[in-house]
Amino acid sequence: MPTSDSAGCYVYIQLPRSMEVVTCGRIVQQGGVGRFVYGKSYLANPRAVELEKFELPLRPGIVETTRLGGICGALRDSSPDAWGRRIIERQLGRVDPTEVDYLLNSPEDRAGALSFGESPTPPAPIPPYNTLPHLDLLLEAAGRIEQGLPPFADAVSEPVNPGTSMGGARPKNVIEDGEDLWVAKFPSRGDRWNNAAVEGGMLRLARECGLRSAYGKVVSVAGRSVLLVRRFDRRRADEGYLRQRMVSALTVLRADEHPQDRSKWSYVLLADELKRWVANPDADLRELFSRMVFNALISNIDDHPRNHALIAAGTEWNLSPAYDLTPMPQVSTERDLAMEVGSVQQRRANRRNLLSECGRFRLSREDATHIIDKMKATVSARWRETVKACGGTEADLNAIERAFDYEGFEYDSRP
Ligand SMILES: Nc1ncnc2c1ncn2[C@@H]1O[C@H](COP(=O)(O)OP(=O)(O)OP(=O)(O)O)[C@@H](O)[C@H]1O
Ligand SMILES: [Mg+2]
Repeated sequence: MPTSDSAGCYVYIQLPRSMEVVTCGRIVQQGGVGRFVYGKSYLANPRAVELEKFELPLRPGIVETTRLGGICGALRDSSPDAWGRRIIERQLGRVDPTEVDYLLNSPEDRAGALSFGESPTPPAPIPPYNTLPHLDLLLEAAGRIEQGLPPFADAVSEPVNPGTSMGGARPKNVIEDGEDLWVAKFPSRGDRWNNAAVEGGMLRLARECGLRSAYGKVVSVAGRSVLLVRRFDRRRADEGYLRQRMVSALTVLRADEHPQDRSKWSYVLLADELKRWVANPDADLRELFSRMVFNALISNIDDHPRNHALIAAGTEWNLSPAYDLTPMPQVSTERDLAMEVGSVQQRRANRRNLLSECGRFRLSREDATHIIDKMKATVSARWRETVKACGGTEADLNAIERAFDYEGFEYDSRP
């Protein structure tokens, strides 16, 4: 494991619908400037695919960026966020690793199809994943890390890896169970309700609303609920897992990650991007519009651009299944999402604003209104049941009640 500042590394990719991993390029990051170049042999490979459609198309030459501290979005999307970085910083005993350090020190359970290393040739296949029986150890390790303690009480080597490259802030890990890999989302210290039951309930509710959401199930580990979300970027094959490329909406929008500059955090801009990115824009635009409405209806105000993604199983890109659907009860009768939903009141979650740019999603006003009406009725009628079905108690329902059926959704904000 490299411990000193690393300025550069090789990038590898598992080719689409294949177990073959090849070197595709190299990145160097220095002084806030990142450079990426595809390797000649990769460009000559007839099975080569681009890492990102518009910033990193398949062509020779150096691509330079100062965004995201000097790393191309598609590469940054392969790296952990707050939770995984915290563990790496602990392991390295440093608070200031470079982006390349994070890539080189993060486990190979990362989202998407990329890997990173210091050798010009790809590394040996990754060691086995953590498995379901390891969940109690992983849960305990996550709790200790949250408290600022080493992951395990004893220094003896444990059979599990407490770190993960998956993004997000919540304590989590990846486990293998049956034919699938799962993101295991653990309880966190500040939780005010059973998050696994509530988030699991929202994934179900989204399906009942006709959305394409990730499949989740709640399991009990040492008396606590853990949400397992089936990974949609991996598919079991005879010799291991096939991997799909994955880029976040933050990358697609070329947006800043800091909430201070949210100018590009917008469903409407994302809709415009889908038109040039995806294979079936009409279907994905309708899905995106519906997700935006769903997030408004459940007060998911944490719907930032890393909570949306595009994936590619083969050569074509598509909107990924929906994930990280979390209601946030509000005292106010109105609420703002993290991303802009319309042109009347930017982020404000109400019918009029949601409808204001429906044409950009290729929906008529009539169609869009029908989608809203139908989803509003389903959410209202079903949210309690879906949360209960995932183990939510009356206390959990009371705690999140003010996320649903809020008056402001129907306010007519016409001046
Ligand atoms: N089912 C899945 N399959 C593949 N990748 C996933 C899946 N669910 C989540 N991810 C990836 O893992 C990341 C973290 O997951 P998620 O957003 O659920 O975690 P979180 O900690 O709740 O995030 P946040 O910090 O936004 O609250 C996502 O941004 C996405 O890249
Ligand atoms: Mg998230």
